[in-house]
Parts: sequence; structure tokens; C-alpha cells
Amino acid sequence: MAMTRKRGLIVGAGIAIVAVFLGWRLVRPMDIFVVTKNFERPIDTGKLAPPPEALSASACGACHQAIYAEWKTSIHSRAWTDPYFRVDWKFDGAQQICKNCHIPLDRQQEHKVLGFRDAEKLKPILADNPDFDPKLQHEGVTCAACHFKDGKILGVHGDLDAPHPVEKLADANEICLRCHIVQGARWDTFYRYPPCGTAAEIEAGAGRWQGRSGELTVRNASELGCVQCHMPAVERALVEGGRIRHARRHLWRGGHDPAMVKQGLDIRFAETGADAADRRAFALTLTNVGAAHFLPTGTPDRYLSVRLRVLDRDGHALEEQRHSLKRTTMWRPFIVDLWDTRLPRGQPRTYRIEFPAASKPAPAAVEAVVRYHLLDEARRARIGYANAEPIAYEVFRSRIALARGL
Ligand code: HEC
Ligand code: HEC
Ligand code: HEC
Ligand code: HEC
Ligand code: HEC
Repeated sequence: MAMTRKRGLIVGAGIAIVAVFLGWRLVRPMDIFVVTKNFERPIDTGKLAPPPEALSASACGACHQAIYAEWKTSIHSRAWTDPYFRVDWKFDGAQQICKNCHIPLDRQQEHKVLGFRDAEKLKPILADNPDFDPKLQHEGVTCAACHFKDGKILGVHGDLDAPHPVEKLADANEICLRCHIVQGARWDTFYRYPPCGTAAEIEAGAGRWQGRSGELTVRNASELGCVQCHMPAVERALVEGGRIRHARRHLWRGGHDPAMVKQGLDIRFAETGADAADRRAFALTLTNVGAAHFLPTGTPDRYLSVRLRVLDRDGHALEEQRHSLKRTTMWRPFIVDLWDTRLPRGQPRTYRIEFPAASKPAPAAVEAVVRYHLLDEARRARIGYANAEPIAYEVFRSRIALARGL
């Protein structure tokens, strides 16, 4: 008797603990990433020899004009001012940690990070920063965010006749790793891929990584290819009147640029074999031919949508299909990757639409439309982002007229 009661109490207490835990997870969702060494603190510019103004992009641009002009057109230069980032950052509680990638230099931040209150390093101990430079803050991912390290300028050429100290990088792709990957294992982040985990997707695609718990160490940065695809090669002088060298354009086009997204996609829409003689079938095939990572990649907001329709003579839909190519995650009470329908590199994805050839009203055309979405409408509304630019655009449209009498 006593034993059963005791067991009952233990089971009851167990259930209560689980219930409280789940309740707590529902109210306070998990941190969606693990803070690791590569971005836990802002970049220390303390060892800077020249005057601090020399850190700004416009100061670099006085000599490196072409690069400065390109960088200004890039999203990196807007990583702090980008209106979507602004709204999302505030919605998420204006956390300091976001700054370490979006405005990573210590002088770009109002506060210094003295240490941390918690083991996860999400609660920094802050103090006023006398070196804070608001103008530099507005430059987002500025030149020095990528090029400054321990008082030197990182580059791939090495011993040039530069007026500033230069340190030669083994591989330029190392630069991208500070921000375009979140690595590190923890039992309760069971992503297949970490958020904004572009580098992880490439490692996984090459079969070097068994995606468990979002943990990842990139073994060989030179195999990632980020610079090769996102900074097109060009022969030019690095400064006015300098020697012509192998250089790279500072463009970093991605989801904000329809041409870049189209370049990554091969899309075909054509008639295919139907299941029966009195039916017709059409197939839309999408292949990621131009991106080493998933397409789309980056923040989990991004997705592609597909719409297939059979139309009558007046353009009314007789039949319609919709598909989303996206990453679907359950955020509460635990983070679980539910399904991921984005396009892995080189694997064709086909959607079919089939219909009776002689139905009434008669089918007059079939149509396929593919759109890229920076974020979805529900999220836009939830965070209160009043966008001036469209949040989605078309990347493919094809309408095939059906011959009459078939
Ligand atoms: C007073 C002019 C001047 C300023 C200001 C200047 N640079 Fe340079 N930089 C040069 C010259 C000259 C070279 C060498 C060009 C050559 O030999 O082709 C160079 C080379 C470089 C290289 C190539 C190094 C390599 O090994 O690949 C990088 C990267 C670079 N600068 C970044 C910067 C950044 C970032 C800033 C601002 C923080 C900056 N520069 C400010 C003149 C300048
Ligand atoms: C200091 C952090 C940092 C580094 C280093 C960095 N990035 Fe970024 N990158 C960002 C941030 C932040 C954004 C998003 C800005 C925004 O949209 O608000 C971004 C956006 C991008 C985009 C997306 C453009 C779009 O249209 O959405 C591409 C492509 C990109 N980076 C490529 C690179 C490559 C390649 C490298 C390495 C050479 C690199 N980045 C290095 C922080 C960084
Ligand atoms: C997102 C990271 C990032 C930012 C921001 C950035 N650069 Fe670079 N930069 C690179 C990488 C990576 C390379 C090496 C490219 C290569 O392999 O040649 C490079 C190369 C260079 C070079 C050497 C020439 C070349 O193309 O190899 C110069 C000079 C330079 N950058 C100047 C600048 C200046 C000036 C700014 C700001 C206006 C800037 N960079 C902003 C990543 C960045
Ligand atoms: C083989 C070429 C290729 C390689 C290698 C590559 N990318 Fe891309 N990347 C693309 C193409 C094409 C797109 C546009 C389609 C898309 O969004 O996936 C893109 C898009 C992006 C975006 C935009 C995501 C967004 O939110 O808008 C980011 C960020 C990015 N790449 C980062 C990287 C980083 C970091 C690396 C290296 C770890 C890398 N890419 C390697 C071709 C490449
Ligand atoms: C480890 C570096 C890192 C941290 C920390 C980080 N971000 Fe980012 N963020 C990026 C990169 C890289 C991109 C762009 C590429 C992509 O889409 O993944 C980006 C893109 C974004 C975008 C999409 C912007 C656009 O133009 O569509 C938003 C919004 C954003 N981040 C918000 C945040 C918020 C809010 C935080 C803090 C809770 C945060 N980020 C922390 C690296 C970071």
C-alpha cells in the first residue's frame, strides 16, 4: 500500500514538473541560437594606430573609391538601418547580441561589454562606451567589420605598398564565418541547420556534416565558395593609379536582388505524360543550379511559392495548386525542424498538374508562377513592419495556350 502511494506521488510530481517546464517554455520561448566565441563580443578596435575616423567606410573610400561605391549599394552597408531589421530587432527586445553581427565594431555600439551575467552569454554586463561613434554605427557591416583585426587590415594579397599595416589571410572565406554561421551544440537546439546557417548548409550538402543539434565546425573555409559566388572577380587597381590586380567586386547580392535569385534557379514548365489518354498533364521543374547552399537560404523567413493553374478562355482558374518551398519550424515549447522543402543544390523538384482534356468549360491555358518572399505576410503584420518596398517578387511566369479540340 505504502509503496503504491509513494510511486503515485513520484509519478504525480514527475508530471507536475514536466507540465511546469512545458508551460515555462510556452511562455518564455527558447533562445534560438547558441552564442559562440566568434561573435560573443564586439570587435576590439583598441589597438587602432591611426585616428579613429580612419575606421569609417568613407575614410577607406577616399583611397578605395570603386570598392566604396559598390559597398554602398550592398545590404551590408544597411545592416543597421535596414527597416525590416529595425522593426524585427525592436520586436525581439532590442538585444545587444544582435549588434555583434549587424554593427560588430566596439565603436559602433553605445555600450561596452564587460562580461556576462549568464552562462549562455545572452545577458551582457554593459557600461557606457566613451568611444561610441553614431556615424560609424550607421555604416552597419562597414569595411573594418570584415577587414580589421588586431590593428591590421586583413587582405588576400599580402605585401602590397599600402599605407596601413596588412595581414595576409589564408583564405578570404574565413571572413564570412563570423556572421554567416551559428555553430555550437546544445541539447535543446535541435535544428538540422542553425538559423541564418548558410555555411552549415554547404557543409551538410557536401556530406561532411551529420546535422545533429545544430552543431558544426567548418573544417576548411576555402571550400565554402562564398567569396567566389558573392564577390565576382574583376581585374582592376585597388586605388586610383595603382597596379591592376586580381580583385573582387564588393556586391554581396542575395535575396534582395531578383537577378541574383534567378541566376540560382533553373525553371522549366512543359507538357508531360498524363495518366490516361483523355487527360493532359504539365510539369514545373525547379532546380537550384547556382547556389551551393539551399535556395532560399539565410533567415528562416525566406521562401519560394509556386502557383499552378488551369485557366478557361476568360482567364478564370478551373484548377489551382499552391506550394511553398520553405523551412517550417516549431518554435514552442521546443525548437523542432518539422519539414524543409527548400531546394538543395542540384536536386530537381517537380510539381505536376493534371486535368481532363475535354472538361466544360474547356481548359484554354495552363500557367505557372514562382515568387520569392523575403518574409511572409503573417509575420510582417505580427511584427508591425510597414514596408515601403515589396516583400515578395516574381522570379518566373509561363502561360501555355492549349490547342483547341483536344
Ligand atoms: C591613404 C590611402 C588609403 C586608405 C585611407 C586606405 N587604404 Fe587600403 N590600401 C591602400 C593602398 C595604396 C593599398 C595597396 C594597393 C596596391 O598595392 O595595389 C591598399 C591595400 C588594401 C587592401 C589589400 C590588402 C591585401 O593584402 O589584400 C585592403 C584589404 C585594404 N587596403 C583595405 C582598407 C580599409 C578597410 C581601409 C579603411 C579602414 C583602407 N584600406 C584605407 C591605400 C589606402
Ligand atoms: C560582421 C558580420 C558579417 C560578415 C563578416 C559578413 N556578413 Fe554578410 N551579412 C551580414 C548581415 C548582418 C546581413 C544582413 C543585413 C540585413 O539585411 O539587415 C548580411 C547579408 C548578406 C547577404 C544577403 C544579401 C541580401 O540580399 O539579403 C549576402 C549574400 C552576404 N551577406 C554575403 C556575405 C559574404 C560572402 C561574406 C564574406 C565575404 C559576408 N557576407 C560577411 C553580416 C555579415
Ligand atoms: C562583408 C565583408 C567585407 C566588407 C564589408 C568589405 N570587404 Fe573588402 N574584401 C572582403 C574580402 C572577402 C576580400 C578578398 C577578396 C578576394 O579574394 O580577392 C576583400 C578585398 C578587399 C580589397 C583588396 C582587393 C580585392 O578585391 O581583393 C580591398 C582594397 C578592400 N577589400 C577594401 C574594402 C573597403 C574599402 C571596404 C568598405 C568600403 C570593404 N573592403 C568592405 C570582404 C569585405
Ligand atoms: C555556387 C554559388 C554560391 C556559393 C558558393 C554561395 N552562394 Fe550564397 N547565394 C548564391 C545565390 C545564387 C543566391 C541567391 C538565391 C538564394 O537566396 O539562395 C545566394 C544567396 C545568399 C544569401 C541571401 C540570403 C537572404 O537571406 O537573402 C546569403 C546570406 C548567402 N547567399 C550567403 C552565402 C555564404 C555565407 C556563402 C558561403 C558560406 C555562400 N552564400 C555561398 C550563390 C552562392
Ligand atoms: C551571428 C551573427 C548574427 C546575429 C547574432 C544576428 N544576426 Fe541577423 N542576420 C545575420 C546575417 C548574416 C543575416 C543575413 C543573411 C541571412 O539572411 O541569413 C541576418 C539577417 C537578419 C534579418 C533579415 C534582414 C532582411 O533584410 O531581410 C533580420 C530581420 C535580422 N537579421 C534580425 C536579427 C535580430 C533581431 C538579431 C538578434 C536577436 C540578429 N539578427 C542577430 C547575422 C546575425
